[in-house]
Amino acid sequence: MTKYIVAAVGEIPPGGRKIVDAGDGSVGIFNLNGEFFALRNRCPHQGGPVCLGRLAGFLQSSAPGEYIYSRPGEVLRCPWHGWEYDVKTGQSWYDPVHPRVRRYPVIVEPGSVLVEDPDAPAPGLQKGPYVAETYPVSVDERYVVVEIPE
Ligand code: FES
Repeated sequence: MTKYIVAAVGEIPPGGRKIVDAGDGSVGIFNLNGEFFALRNRCPHQGGPVCLGRLAGFLQSSAPGEYIYSRPGEVLRCPWHGWEYDVKTGQSWYDPVHPRVRRYPVIVEPGSVLVEDPDAPAPGLQKGPYVAETYPVSVDERYVVVEIPE
């Protein structure tokens, strides 16, 4: 594990991010309400610069005009194809019931995906197939430090 000093604490305000070269690639450091998280800037889908993506929240709707918006600013959307990642865990999430384009699914699923995931950040979401690499982040005195495995 190699430690990289990536920023002074005040350099990344809440809601902000900084992208740095560290280890063997690019890493995005995000400040979510004073807590720091780091993700590899390479989307597990097809390698896009995921850390350049827009930050949003989870949006769920049960009927027209009704919606629940949760965890604003904690979901990172890859700019290439729109896969969404939880900044805190790197886990991708998607809504299999309400896709953005019309489709007629005929699928065979294992029983495990038919049960509600207790870790899901919003009702109806299932874990996506991708998990962005995350790294531990600590604040050492006045600096943000990322630990990247060698
Ligand atoms: S490369 Fe990120 S969604 Fe495809």
